[in-house]
Amino acid sequence: MINNKKDIQKLIDSMTLEEKIAQMYQLPGQVYDFYSDRESGPVTGPEGLREYTQDLLFNVGSVLNITEASTARKIQKEYLEQNRLEIPLMFMFDIIHGHKTIFPIPLGAACSWNMNMIEESARVAAREGSVSGINVTFSPMADLVRDARWGRVMESPGEDPLLNARISAALVRGYQGSDPGAKHNLAACVKHFAAYGAAEAGRDYNTVDMSEYRLFNYYLQGYKAALDEGVKMVMTSFNTLNGVPATANKDLFCDLLRDKWDFQGTVISDWDAVSEMVYHGYSSDGSEAARQAVEAGVDIEMVSQEYVNNLTELIEEGVIKENKVDQAVERILNLKYELGLFADPFKFFDEQGEEKYHLCEEHRKKARRLAAESMVLLENNGILPLENNISSVTVVGPFADSGEILGEWSAVGRAEDTVTLKEGLKNQLSSKAELHVFSKIADLNKTQFGEIVSRVKESEATVLAVGEPQNWSGEANSRGRITLPEKQDRFIRRLVSALDEQESNLVMVLFNGRPLELEWYSENIPALLEAWYPGTEGGNAVADILLGRVNPSGKLTMSFPYSVGQMPLYYNRYSTGRPRGYEPGEEHYYSRYIDMPNEALYPFGYGLSYTTFDYQNFALEKNELTAGEEARVTGEILNSGDCKGQETVQLYIQDFEGSRVRPLKELKDYQKIELAAGERAEISFCITEEMLSYYCEGKYIVEEGEFAVFVGSSAHDLNECGTLYYKKS
Ligand code: GLC
Repeated sequence: MINNKKDIQKLIDSMTLEEKIAQMYQLPGQVYDFYSDRESGPVTGPEGLREYTQDLLFNVGSVLNITEASTARKIQKEYLEQNRLEIPLMFMFDIIHGHKTIFPIPLGAACSWNMNMIEESARVAAREGSVSGINVTFSPMADLVRDARWGRVMESPGEDPLLNARISAALVRGYQGSDPGAKHNLAACVKHFAAYGAAEAGRDYNTVDMSEYRLFNYYLQGYKAALDEGVKMVMTSFNTLNGVPATANKDLFCDLLRDKWDFQGTVISDWDAVSEMVYHGYSSDGSEAARQAVEAGVDIEMVSQEYVNNLTELIEEGVIKENKVDQAVERILNLKYELGLFADPFKFFDEQGEEKYHLCEEHRKKARRLAAESMVLLENNGILPLENNISSVTVVGPFADSGEILGEWSAVGRAEDTVTLKEGLKNQLSSKAELHVFSKIADLNKTQFGEIVSRVKESEATVLAVGEPQNWSGEANSRGRITLPEKQDRFIRRLVSALDEQESNLVMVLFNGRPLELEWYSENIPALLEAWYPGTEGGNAVADILLGRVNPSGKLTMSFPYSVGQMPLYYNRYSTGRPRGYEPGEEHYYSRYIDMPNEALYPFGYGLSYTTFDYQNFALEKNELTAGEEARVTGEILNSGDCKGQETVQLYIQDFEGSRVRPLKELKDYQKIELAAGERAEISFCITEEMLSYYCEGKYIVEEGEFAVFVGSSAHDLNECGTLYYKKS
């Protein structure tokens, strides 16, 4: 019986080498022939041809993609009947934005800037996943992103280090609570370590190469925040970093993660990432890949079988010391112990809990609220919000009545459980209102198109329900173009030209997993609402926004470009030696495109409301900051519009010069507040020395000098609050 961590050492001492190595293997759950006639779980990577001996199958340490309690219960039972030492299996799954009740995709949820709601979404996901027998979720994904071509931006918190950190920490708190082994909690796994979001050309699995300066000042914050919050597991990324695959990268996993950051938890490879080091041209064969990964401290190999095929021989030949394996097995068994699996291997299988919690009213309500807060109002000429007693609405487009609005990585969420936009509107429009829906807009003949036009003209409002098919983003779904599907674009332009300017009652609602090129629509469509993939309650949430039950408050966490040609695009960039205006009057020789602005069409931190907020009298209380002190910037926000609304007030700082060039501006704090019409509130930010610091040559430093302080409603809409002079003494 394992009653403490000392017992684990005894257990390890009683294990054979083969049993220890099998603990380091994670089996894809769809290998169901061993587990008799099981429902196969979702496949989340290349299947490949692998051998699964009975001996291996009754000794693997963990299984991924088993997603329901009854299946997991049977597997655990059969497994323990065969496993010599009765070491329980651990179950892992990608619960990224909900398990059965699906929340907005992470890039959408991030736009809520609401850490409490994001944490709560993870708590709901943990409750739903844990009753299904899952112990570990492969979340938070903390990869900072700057390239909308990459399909996995949908899974990321966005382009800002501070937000990435706060969101990662909130998710870990939500999943793990105070004890990841407690009922309704999950152990969390932060991924993909490291800098996977910087894949060159936005092409998935592609090369990552960057300076330590960039890595530490932008890309690592999200992972580190998860570790500081006590995350139990770290997953390696597929990419190379500076010529070495992350999965064998000792700089990352030994020097930084273990030594500098003192991470005591478990490291798991990504799917096949160990064997793929041969394709990278880093390992001569699977045996070398196994050696390199285990020496880098990768405890669990996911799916590929280099460990089980090679470690025994490598140890017998003295290439690897057995204690490397013992260390890995100890971390794996410690996690099982912490999760309470030794005490009760069946504790998480709760079929009644699935009945009670999956898609329950409370969870749907939370999903609906976060979905509404994640939506970003990009344009509005006043057509929104629609009148509550509106008498006729036409909804046109492929997402008009579609449940395919969950996005990738939606676990066991189902379209059939999802509230569509049509249903959401029907739930809220008066019974007398006319609602016309045209889901088909491609390849229309003249009559069909004419019917839509005349219906649009007769309606008080027309909602264009358009966007990307869900599988145009997510893993392995990078795009060279970031436009709406061609047939949607063609239809929209044709419809706009069929309406006179004053007739245009069009509201575009976008369902997509990445920033898109929206310039033409921004100029020709009265209102644009970015809805992302809003999840199970998506239709209700969109209707809440369109009809004004919820005043939109989302703010972008990833820049929307004029064109994909601007990639990589991010707000916290450096000045360059030839910024616009470096030479008074010089309009040619500066860092620019000759055919579009440098800036984003819609910048980081941008989002409109149905009301307006005035920023008044923001100023620094003092202009000097001595080491160890703090400074304050204070002002007022007035809701100068005619309805209640939420505003995310953002604090940015610019370090004018340093031993390394510094960004033009960096988000350092924010406050999301709610004000009634006409209400004003005092807002105050505390500026600390830590906010002025940056990483340079192995350590965080603060240098004397001037810092500009801004407060505003986006990275572009900023109010200067004065200059702060920092001095050491
Ligand atoms: C995938 C993803 C990773 C996921 C894992 C298991 O390839 O890269 O994010 O957690 O495999 O599904």
